[in-house]
Amino acid sequence: MTIPDMTIYVLNGPNLNLLGTREPEIYGAASLDDIRSAVSDAARGRGASVEFRQSNHEGVLIDWVQEAAGKAAGLIVNPGAYTHTSIALHDALKTVKIPKIELHLSNIHAREAFRRHSYISPAVDAVICGLGAQGYLTALDALIRLIDKKPFP
Ligand code: DQA
Repeated sequence: MTIPDMTIYVLNGPNLNLLGTREPEIYGAASLDDIRSAVSDAARGRGASVEFRQSNHEGVLIDWVQEAAGKAAGLIVNPGAYTHTSIALHDALKTVKIPKIELHLSNIHAREAFRRHSYISPAVDAVICGLGAQGYLTALDALIRLIDKKPFP
């Protein structure tokens, strides 16, 4: 189904600007720009538009989450390492009453113990991890279904 005027925020946290060269054995070969165009194309095909951003700064990410409250139909966030540290990002997400998905390229539960705890998960509707760049497309599809309140199947 095509939903008019649907803007989806895709927010990426620290070090994700280095995708493609950063530990490719963990995060894959796709750059953030590759992901940006794949997600934007997929969204366009669904009648949605994507506001795709990356910052290495916690406060900037929080500003964008707050901004999404007034402008976005839904939000996908890969908070990078702030996943495991940021109560402030958790608090910001709690204030935003739109469908929200936490996303990680890697399977954070199969890695170091410090990555197994997320401050973000309790503040979002769903979590997707371990699918690599493909996860962004999976998240987009799932988010549109959440926004659209599309019943299974
Ligand atoms: C990550 C997982 C985090 O633990 C890590 O700090 C990242 C990337 C992921 O996408 O797999 O920067 O969010």
